[in-house]
Amino acid sequence: MTEPLAEMGVLSEALRAAAAAAEAYLAGLEDAPAAPAGIDDAALAFGAGPLPEQGVGAMAALAELLRDGVPAATRSAGPRFFHFVTGGGTPAALAADWITSALDQNSFSWVSSPLGSRIERVALGWLKELFGLPAAWGGVLTTGATMANFTGLAAARRWWALEHGREIDQDGWAGLPQLPVLSSGYIHTSATKALSMLGVGRGSVRRFAADATGRLDLAALESALRELGGRPALVMATAGEVNAGDFDPIDRMAELAHRHHAWLHVDGAFGLFARVSTRARELAQGIDGADSVISDGHKWLNVPYDTGFAFVRHPELMHGTFALTGAPYLPVGSDERPSFGDHGPEASRRARALNVWATLRAYGRDGYRDLVDRHLELARRVGEQVEAAPDLELLAPVRLNVICFRFHPPGASDGALDELNRRLGAAILADGRVYFGTTVYGGRVAFRPAISNWRTTEADADLIVGVTRELAAGL
Ligand SMILES: Cc1ncc(COP(=O)(O)O)c(C=O)c1O
Repeated sequence: MTEPLAEMGVLSEALRAAAAAAEAYLAGLEDAPAAPAGIDDAALAFGAGPLPEQGVGAMAALAELLRDGVPAATRSAGPRFFHFVTGGGTPAALAADWITSALDQNSFSWVSSPLGSRIERVALGWLKELFGLPAAWGGVLTTGATMANFTGLAAARRWWALEHGREIDQDGWAGLPQLPVLSSGYIHTSATKALSMLGVGRGSVRRFAADATGRLDLAALESALRELGGRPALVMATAGEVNAGDFDPIDRMAELAHRHHAWLHVDGAFGLFARVSTRARELAQGIDGADSVISDGHKWLNVPYDTGFAFVRHPELMHGTFALTGAPYLPVGSDERPSFGDHGPEASRRARALNVWATLRAYGRDGYRDLVDRHLELARRVGEQVEAAPDLELLAPVRLNVICFRFHPPGASDGALDELNRRLGAAILADGRVYFGTTVYGGRVAFRPAISNWRTTEADADLIVGVTRELAAGL
């Protein structure tokens, strides 16, 4: 060691240097391209060489990270990163995240962290209020929507097996049939990944799509449920699908699921925030009629990566799967003094509730309503710009925060358009002023920028169409 590990002077110097660098980086986000030139090379060049036999010390390691690492970062916390669905830490959430690291609580149990456990309980209660979910539902924070899907679906799997008289979490799958899973074509890949992790299998999903976009064929879903003749099943709905931000008809699916003895799981990774808005609330009607509902924090709540939330109507079903059993040294929680390690997949876990609590405390329901409404307005504005442009084609109505469109110069054939849009997509990523990729929507290669960062202004959003058309003209 070139310096003693416990050297307080170095610690405070390192924290001050990190704070100064973070401040400078964040201040630069307004003007920096979403993906600065050379990030690919900078990332590949980083960190060559073997494990150091002798360390260089905290300040030298930090200086190297800042000098050689930071230039390789996409400005994903910035206002023009429209790829995937990406938030950005609010000031309150980011500051709380730093405190979370400093406190370094293991938030798996009340005994290891009364603070983390209490704040998680409070934050989950506030999230249920924010989304209009019943207070009696169980909840837990996870690393993201994928693990939140895993958590909700584990509860569904447990319910289904109990309906067959089996204890799946104790005895496994022996003697059980395949679990019937029914959805529209909107089901997200992370939800099928969760089914795979649970042993249900990606292949057990039956998709009832009315068209190539994946929109639900409600009549086909209903007849499939009827054919099951009351055997328990799982219906999966999506609130906010990634390509165009559309919603399954959740109120109708809830009614069908319950009439036919099925569990309804709703993946609202970002779409659950429609319930916070004044402009899109009706899209998310009926979600409180589901059995499990999930969302996440690093998208529209704008807390730093990584945070997800799962809510389950019958909390004891979560405990059945996730309780850490048979280890007398581990403390058991109670309702008032919970051990969230018994409610979700991780045992040791970061106190990510501090970020969620801080941002909700700082900005409140009003702040989030304004944020979501502003993003919906920006997305609508971009949609109108697309419609007004003679060489762009809006492929789906702008219902939420995603704008699904493609470049479509007059006279080009569908096959040529796919190739053209792929090339344009690569040019947009390489240009880096704005950042969004391509998808395939209804069989056509398309763009799907999503607006979900609190920093994004009208001028930022206007660049989506501006840069796309400028680069398309040079293809
Ligand atoms: C509908 C939906 N569900 C789940 C996920 C997975 O989220 P995460 O990356 O937080 O696991 C996403 C991510 O975009 C999503 O859009």
